[in-house]
Amino acid sequence: MEQMLDEKEQMYRALKKIEIVTKGESDPIANMANTSAVIKEFMSDVSWVGFYIMRNGELVLGPFQGKSACKRIKIGKGVCGTCVAEDKTQIVPDVRNFEGHIACDSSSLSEIVIPIHYGNNIVGVLDLDSYSLDRFNSFHSEELTKIVKVLEDRCKWDII
Ligand code: SME
Repeated sequence: MEQMLDEKEQMYRALKKIEIVTKGESDPIANMANTSAVIKEFMSDVSWVGFYIMRNGELVLGPFQGKSACKRIKIGKGVCGTCVAEDKTQIVPDVRNFEGHIACDSSSLSEIVIPIHYGNNIVGVLDLDSYSLDRFNSFHSEELTKIVKVLEDRCKWDII
């Protein structure tokens, strides 16, 4: 329970700070960069957090915090490409059981990926990895979706 309260507090503070640091800014790169920094600062047990951006029909690495990562992911491939293909948040408790998982860091054990929309299009995804199994659940999905909503509303996604 205490762990859960801590997590609620972490996510609440992250959302509030992201609202502050993205306020008045419409550039997606600036906002994605600050958002990945805030999530990494506030959430515990997250090894990598960042964005993949839709470019010419594939996902290309965007701003992130963590170790260097795969640069391009095709739609339908890996957890990120599946998120886009299905237009659905992916929660993967154990990446070893996700067929086609792309291991940028072989120590990663669980992952969550949330789609980002602009109008009717998916413009990218927010991706988080952890070295712990089963790190992410529906609570994180809901909270991270609120963070994505801030970016969807504030950014001019057609300039990238
Ligand atoms: N694991 C992802 C690739 C991106 S890294 O986690 C940063 C995937 O399967 O799509």
